Amino acid sequence: MTIVFRDATESDFEILSRIYEKPYDGLETARKFVELYLGHYFWKLVEADGKIVGGLIWFPRENPELGWAEILDVWIDESYRRRRLGFRLIIEVIKNIESHFESFGHKAKCVILFTSENNISARRLYEKAGFKKVGYGGYVADDGTRELLYSLNF
Ligand SMILES: CC(C)(COP(=O)(O)OP(=O)(O)OC[C@H]1O[C@@H](n2cnc3c(N)ncnc32)[C@H](O)[C@@H]1OP(=O)(O)O)[C@@H](O)C(=O)NCCC(=O)NCCS
Repeated sequence: MTIVFRDATESDFEILSRIYEKPYDGLETARKFVELYLGHYFWKLVEADGKIVGGLIWFPRENPELGWAEILDVWIDESYRRRRLGFRLIIEVIKNIESHFESFGHKAKCVILFTSENNISARRLYEKAGFKKVGYGGYVADDGTRELLYSLNF
């Protein structure tokens, strides 16, 4: 299996909209969000033998001097999970974040993200990549599960 990590481009719009159709409850909503993400965020994709099987969306927060970024979304296609693709993706993106701030003459200092308390696979992945649980991020799930705030400090 040939694995490639690459930036998402406008030419991925339709395929990404189809991928997001299910979690976003419909193609129209998915298209709106994919347009937003492609236009305003950094989006790294994982391809396995030419097929998109994962992605990670991140953005720099506020003034680049702060070296502060947030990961918004990470996913790996169900049939490709537990093959270290999520781990490799996050490590690749951490390097991209460091380069991003270096291009402004600054250093990356902190990457944050939120995840649900009961999302064990995501929590283990982030912990393995060096993130630490630093707090709580409110309640957005219908079942009252807490969101956790994780942070990676350089
Ligand atoms: C979370 C997710 C991205 C992990 O992707 P993945 O490619 O399967 O993860 P990896 O194979 O790289 O696993 C890295 C580490 O995470 C942990 N992990 C991953 N899946 C796990 C699971 N189902 N149970 C327990 N630990 C798990 C393990 O520590 C693993 O290291 P190991 O293989 O050395 O034991 C994937 O499960 C996913 O897409 N989930 C749905 C979307 C989601 O919830 N995203 C997070 C939103 S905040």
